[in-house]
Amino acid sequence: MTQENMSSPDPDAETENDTLVSPRPGSEAVNAGRGSGRKSDSRTVIESRNLDVYYGNDQALQNIDIAIPQNQVTAMIGPSGCGKSTFLRCINRMNDLIDSCRVDGDLFFEGKNVYDDDVDPVSLRRHIGMVFQAPNPFPKSIYDNVAYGLKVQGKTENVDEKVEQALKGAALWDEVKNRLDESGLELSGGQQQRLCIARAIAVDPEVILMDEPASALDPVATSQIEDLIDDLAEEYTVIIVTHNMQQAARISDKTAVFLTGGELVEFDDTQKIFENPQSQRVEDYITGKFG
Ligand SMILES: Nc1ncnc2c1ncn2[C@@H]1O[C@H](COP(=O)(O)OP(=O)(O)OP(=O)(O)O)[C@@H](O)[C@H]1O
Ligand SMILES: [Mg+2]
Repeated sequence: MTQENMSSPDPDAETENDTLVSPRPGSEAVNAGRGSGRKSDSRTVIESRNLDVYYGNDQALQNIDIAIPQNQVTAMIGPSGCGKSTFLRCINRMNDLIDSCRVDGDLFFEGKNVYDDDVDPVSLRRHIGMVFQAPNPFPKSIYDNVAYGLKVQGKTENVDEKVEQALKGAALWDEVKNRLDESGLELSGGQQQRLCIARAIAVDPEVILMDEPASALDPVATSQIEDLIDDLAEEYTVIIVTHNMQQAARISDKTAVFLTGGELVEFDDTQKIFENPQSQRVEDYITGKFG
């Protein structure tokens, strides 16, 4: 199985483990939720401490400390090879699938260290879904693509309704409601990407990781995905890697800037990063002086 295919629920996993996550003492909402406004501080969902990642002897990430807030959009930007995808893959343990990859340090999801021995990566990926650069629908009908994760989890009740909800949530329903039996592969690229988002949200995750989800799409489809990301943040925590600086500025609440060498140089409110960064290196990067 390729990495891309691991974005969706694992067919080998027959059992659901909803007990993965125990609330972390002291992590209760401070000022959480859409009701209080997405721009305000909300509680931390993902947190890394002293995270180092190696591929063999090569270090890809150095000492990453970050706390990602709930129900906000966090963008990760930085030059090619600086470790953005590596960091994203740490969060739902996709790096486990790369033999040479080693992770040191801590990464918490809802206060639980995802690298603890008792964490089942397959369950973890149901809580933390992923959408990739290239849309990767299964060679199945539109309906079955979305229903797939529910089926794997043995959730057989109200499947039609849940499929409809997920497709509506992914802003695709109106375009496909009369062709649910057609293959997902017959959709356009932008529609396929929204189908993958529907597939990810059908199993009701808390976090959605997106690795350059719009970079293969035309401007119209890109703008649809951007609108969708904004809506998704009402219900989910969204972490998106993008090379498109304007996109990061448009859609995110927080921005993390990684630079060559696998360093997280700055992490702050998006407006601050783009208008008044603390680091000269970040300013140089976002103004296009290097990178
Ligand atoms: N499977 C792998 N095996 C060995 N080295 C890897 C692997 N994946 C990534 N790396 C290395 O780790 C470093 C970070 O790569 P990563 O893909 O995380 O960067 P990135 O910031 O996502 O880059 P891009 O913007 O090009 O996608 C690079 O030096 C890369 O060569
Ligand atoms: Mg990448």
